[in-house]
Amino acid sequence: MVEAVGLNVFKFPARMIPGCDLLTDSGTTTMTMRQWSQLLLGDESYGSNEGYFEFKEQVVETFGPQWENLDKDFENVFLFHQGRAAENGLFTCLGRILETRGKSTGDGRPWYIIPSNGHFDTTMANIEANGFEGRNLFCKEALAKDRQARFKGNMDVAGLEVLLDDPKMRERVPLVYLTITNNTGGGQPVSLENMRRVSELCHTHGLPLMFDACRFAENAWFIRQFEQGHQDRSIAEVVRLMFEQVDGFHISLKKDGLVNIGGALVAKEGGFLSKNYPELQAALTGHQVLVEGHPTYGGLAGRDLKGAVEGLKTVVSRGFLDYRISQVQRFGARVDEACGADVVIKPVGGHAVYLDLDKFFEGTGLSDEQFPGISLTALLLVAGHRLCELGVYAFGRNVGGKEVPSEPRVNNVRAAVPRLCYEDIDLRAAAEAIGVLYEQREGIPGVEVEYGQDLPMRHFVSRFRFKE
Ligand code: F0G
Repeated sequence: MVEAVGLNVFKFPARMIPGCDLLTDSGTTTMTMRQWSQLLLGDESYGSNEGYFEFKEQVVETFGPQWENLDKDFENVFLFHQGRAAENGLFTCLGRILETRGKSTGDGRPWYIIPSNGHFDTTMANIEANGFEGRNLFCKEALAKDRQARFKGNMDVAGLEVLLDDPKMRERVPLVYLTITNNTGGGQPVSLENMRRVSELCHTHGLPLMFDACRFAENAWFIRQFEQGHQDRSIAEVVRLMFEQVDGFHISLKKDGLVNIGGALVAKEGGFLSKNYPELQAALTGHQVLVEGHPTYGGLAGRDLKGAVEGLKTVVSRGFLDYRISQVQRFGARVDEACGADVVIKPVGGHAVYLDLDKFFEGTGLSDEQFPGISLTALLLVAGHRLCELGVYAFGRNVGGKEVPSEPRVNNVRAAVPRLCYEDIDLRAAAEAIGVLYEQREGIPGVEVEYGQDLPMRHFVSRFRFKE
């Protein structure tokens, strides 16, 4: 069967996976009893259903009083069916607004640059699809693969400073991003200090700072746990401090919303996003009507909104986060134990264990062009567990027949842990399977790409076969 789906884990029928499905932590949450009870109370009205009002109240409750919608002429919470639809809404509308300013490099390359501590692939794809360049400024601890640094998701503030201090470059930056936690950088958290420094820098330059807030609660847990001065705060307090730093955010509720579907984009009234782009909020409402339906349900059922409201309440609980994140940490330790080697990226992040493919295949002679990460995920599927490659295949591209890795190059396989889904003993089985393949790594062949090597988002659609 693995061969029948062209070794592509995304195409493998989920019901045929006997072990752990660690493809993603997105939308795979087991909802709590309280969430299920809320689903039954869903109000399915077309206009202004109850869940919509409750969701807006919960946004203020969770993220702080600055997120309230006081200006009744403009919406500030935009609902979408998932995170990337919110990203698409933002970049489509922003792209149109900026187009009217008539800036061009003259050589076909994008004029506008959107810096980040690490854009997720869908964010990057939406940025590029709308004519912007996304630029990842990973911090030096992440680039150096520092194993002690606690906040490897941070942005390289010095790099951002260089960019913004040059007036010619500054005018090319419409906004700045922090992804919390930094999925592309290995699920690593961003410190509150880093958020504050990036925020100060952006605001000094009159620029909006945005969060891609998918895993905001996990990020807050790391701050409370490891950043000096926050140990006496609740997670909810840390979350509010974090969200004081930004002018807007979008979130896939499929992660720390603890639901199976949902997304939102939120603008802070009076923040740099709404000040710099006064047309944006009305444009977003128009966009929502075109693609998601009435803005008060935004592509979701009323019950989905009720479930998300309840999820946002639960996700900031210490008990939940202690359990959730410590389970991921234990799983990471088991993978190293099973391999008898240090193949897991350290420290382990909040939602997933990342295997460093360069370490895993060190000395085997397999090159990037043989995509050993694809081989590894295909063989793990044979063993009953599903992981995915987030490495030179997922992030790289093929230009004119030549493979070009992402800049900076990233090369991992990810085992994402769904929330409230597996027991430790299930994850132990997955760790053992990884260990067996590590022992056999000399015998693992590379793959060749049968279809899709030059397509965008190619890892979702490609077909591969093992090399002889
Ligand atoms: N931003 C980040 C940081 C993400 O991790 C994701 C999704 C999205 C945006 C897009 O949200 O899926 O609701 O459209 N990440 C999933 C993953 C798919 O497996 O990491 P979405």
